[in-house]
Amino acid sequence: MKKTVLVSGGAGFIGSHVTVELSQAGYDVVIADNMSNCDETNYKGVCAILGRQLPFEKIDFCDAAAANDLFNRYKIDAVIHFAAFKAVGESVEQPLMYYKNNLDSFLNVLECARVHGTNVLFSSSATVYGEPDETPVTETSPRKPATSPYGNTKQMCEDFLRDCVAAYGMHGIALRYFNPIGAHPSALIGELPRGIPNNLVPFITQTAIGKRECLNIFGDDYPTPDGTCLRDYIDITDLAKAHVCAVTRMIEGKMDEPYEIFNIGTGRPVSVLELVNSFERVNGIKLNYRIAPRRPGDVTAVWADPTLAQQKLGWKAVRSVDETLASAWAWEKRLAEAAE
Ligand code: WQD
Repeated sequence: MKKTVLVSGGAGFIGSHVTVELSQAGYDVVIADNMSNCDETNYKGVCAILGRQLPFEKIDFCDAAAANDLFNRYKIDAVIHFAAFKAVGESVEQPLMYYKNNLDSFLNVLECARVHGTNVLFSSSATVYGEPDETPVTETSPRKPATSPYGNTKQMCEDFLRDCVAAYGMHGIALRYFNPIGAHPSALIGELPRGIPNNLVPFITQTAIGKRECLNIFGDDYPTPDGTCLRDYIDITDLAKAHVCAVTRMIEGKMDEPYEIFNIGTGRPVSVLELVNSFERVNGIKLNYRIAPRRPGDVTAVWADPTLAQQKLGWKAVRSVDETLASAWAWEKRLAEAAE
């Protein structure tokens, strides 16, 4: 019997890639999204890649009755929860909006999962490590006080899941993503930032296509080899495959502990300048960029020790930065063609 996975936020950047990988691995997937931060592009792209329509439910998980109704209508073996607001700066300006949306929706998902005995996978973030004392970070590295309401919701939701697992005999996994970048090799799904992108790679591709005049590199006086920040950029398809491994581990009852946490990164630190230079080289483009002041809140360096995910999930990032940057550029060009 095929198992069914509910993907909340399944029309978004990460959710759409995870939906493709789960479907290709033989899972039935139900996509649920309130479409508050995306259009139908990725949903249509998912269906085009798979060559069939997937069940789609327009639902806001802050609506407890609607969430409950959804869990009653499908027999869901695991839920992956992506549905959340994700802009760090916006969360500082509108903390209540972030706390209400990101916490309420996950609490409703947890309540449904408790009632229906559903496995839960939560999309967490390396942001929970803050400015780490030592790099690379392992899953046991201390969590630092969050520097934004967004980061705080990630920490709080991890704790909600841990406590529910302990109290109700549930099973849950939190995956801590480092910096997901790139697009599906088909260029049919990818990142669709609203307005001016906050994240580096969408800003690079929008500058390359001419939507933005100049990329600001935020600071070149950090204590790193070239003075720019170090991050662990993880290919979106590699990242999506980690979810298939984690869901399978839960559904097949292979967990060592009922609540587990895994870093999902490459273990490879890359500086902002290295990433920009790689983008230029791989795609044969000269980017217009300048060195700008540091961005408040940025940490100097953070990258993953991904050993645990390799040992327990049997997962490892395999794509090179070059391949991923080529996919990001292919996606930006496709968006431009579609807009013509
Ligand atoms: C990467 C590096 C910037 C833009 C954030 C969230 C995190 C996660 C992913 C999201 C930094 C530099 C950036 C630009 C630049 N969650 N940069 N010019 O800050 O590591 O992580 O996104 O949903 O929780 O905090 O990612 O891509 O914004 O920045 O120089 O125009 O690129 O200073 O060093 P970050 P990022």
